[in-house]
Amino acid sequence: MGGNKRGKSKQKKHKRRRTLAKRADKYELYEKSVQEPDADIPLIQKAFRTEFGRPARRLREDFCGTALLACRWVTSHRENRAWGIDLDPEPLAWGREHNLAPLEPDQAARVKLIEGDVRDIGHEKVDVTVAFNFSYFLFLDRPALRDYFERAYSSLDGEGLLILDVYGGADAQRTCEESREVDDDFDYVWDQDRFDPINHRATNFIHFLFRDGSEMRKAFRYDWRLWTIPELRELLAEAGFSHSKVYWEGTDRKTGEGNDIFSPRESAPDDPAWITYIVATRR
Ligand SMILES: C[S@@+](CC[C@H](N)C(=O)[O-])C[C@H]1O[C@@H](n2cnc3c(N)ncnc32)[C@H](O)[C@@H]1O
Repeated sequence: MGGNKRGKSKQKKHKRRRTLAKRADKYELYEKSVQEPDADIPLIQKAFRTEFGRPARRLREDFCGTALLACRWVTSHRENRAWGIDLDPEPLAWGREHNLAPLEPDQAARVKLIEGDVRDIGHEKVDVTVAFNFSYFLFLDRPALRDYFERAYSSLDGEGLLILDVYGGADAQRTCEESREVDDDFDYVWDQDRFDPINHRATNFIHFLFRDGSEMRKAFRYDWRLWTIPELRELLAEAGFSHSKVYWEGTDRKTGEGNDIFSPRESAPDDPAWITYIVATRR
């Protein structure tokens, strides 16, 4: 009897279609939802040209995950080279298969993916080091973050930039969930699960919801400190950067929404939910 039952449930299992969540690949969903190398690269070049009057050619992507930006960087110019560094072998392996392998051999030869701690890895100096998607928020106190900034400073050539993205505003300092449709199949959910106003510690998750009702909850988890722009600029100066600029997003006159154009600004109007870039210069 027992054997029969097992046989039946096995048959059923084979007939049932696996849910969209079960079939999905979390790194593919992540790249589709949050990464925009085609917007990042022009911003990096604009900032570099503004400081030094020439294009950047060597990029280091700290906390690179699947290294989408590093791989796209080498396709944007035949002299561009990139280094991607991450502690976790899993996203690196995914990136090798999905982002590096499809490149032309000449392009792939200009990318180096390195498994290790961004604070320990040294290689040829670069023009620009980036730490995107707020990854450096994992450093929770001033000594730890200053130490990372000092090491990022030493990754740069005599003329170089460290570029960070930052988010903030009143909405960043509360618990909430925000979802948006990414494509026909799924929604991306940013879940600010915890925020502590005393120490600015935040726990955030990324979930994915699918059209068939299935869910991939807690696909990614982040335990961060929500740093402020003035704190970051002070620490960058302490780490040796000669100056830093905030590239703030302009506003579309018609919609009142952000227009995807980021330019240096000394002050900005109040905004409940902003994402901006800090460009720190070594010279
Ligand atoms: C938020 S993901 C960022 C992925 C990618 N940079 C992006 O823009 O989407 C953070 C990554 O940082 C990596 N990481 C965390 N601590 C690290 C460290 N000390 N050195 C190198 N990588 C680290 C994690 O393994 C993870 O892949």
